[in-house]
Amino acid sequence: MNKKIINTMSMTIPAKSENESFARAAVAAFCSSLDPTVDEISDLKTAVSEAVTNCVVHAYQKRQSNDDIITIACELAEDMLTVKISDHGVGIPDIKQAMQPFYTTVKDGERSGMGFTVMQSFMDKISVNNNEGGGTVVTMQKNFTKEAEKVSGE
Ligand SMILES: Nc1ncnc2c1ncn2[C@@H]1O[C@H](COP(=O)(O)OP(=O)(O)OP(=O)(O)O)[C@@H](O)[C@H]1O
Ligand SMILES: [Mg+2]
Repeated sequence: MNKKIINTMSMTIPAKSENESFARAAVAAFCSSLDPTVDEISDLKTAVSEAVTNCVVHAYQKRQSNDDIITIACELAEDMLTVKISDHGVGIPDIKQAMQPFYTTVKDGERSGMGFTVMQSFMDKISVNNNEGGGTVVTMQKNFTKEAEKVSGE
């Protein structure tokens, strides 16, 4: 049976590096009704940060322009968060290759190619797709500890 949607949120921000910390804090705040653990929030923030950084650095090539928009859409369905981070930037020609550990198109040594791997390990599910009309959509899901499990100390 499908889980019941209890809340949704959508925001658009320009792809500027100062918005990375804002974006991860906003998504974390959106989940506060679930009373998440410190570890859960920390993992979520790290994953969101990696996805948003990719938009700033790769999709929009560090232009830092107000015209380059990132959309972050969140949905809470009972204890499960879905967060969708999309851009209209350059897109990824080979998504499977881009998701391999240590794969990066930045050759100056500034990037380690571990962003998608981090997102995969800190969230329960991640999928990457081409955005309609160009760009990339990263969809991530995380299941939070249920209230009942916390009470029983698990
Ligand atoms: N939103 C995006 N738009 C365009 N290309 C992207 C996007 N996200 C990722 N990529 C491409 O996928 C590659 C792998 O991304 P990943 O985040 O795993 O590593 P990285 O960003 O290169 O390095 P790191 O995240 O470790 O700093 C990038 O080098 C880039 O070519
Ligand atoms: Mg990255």
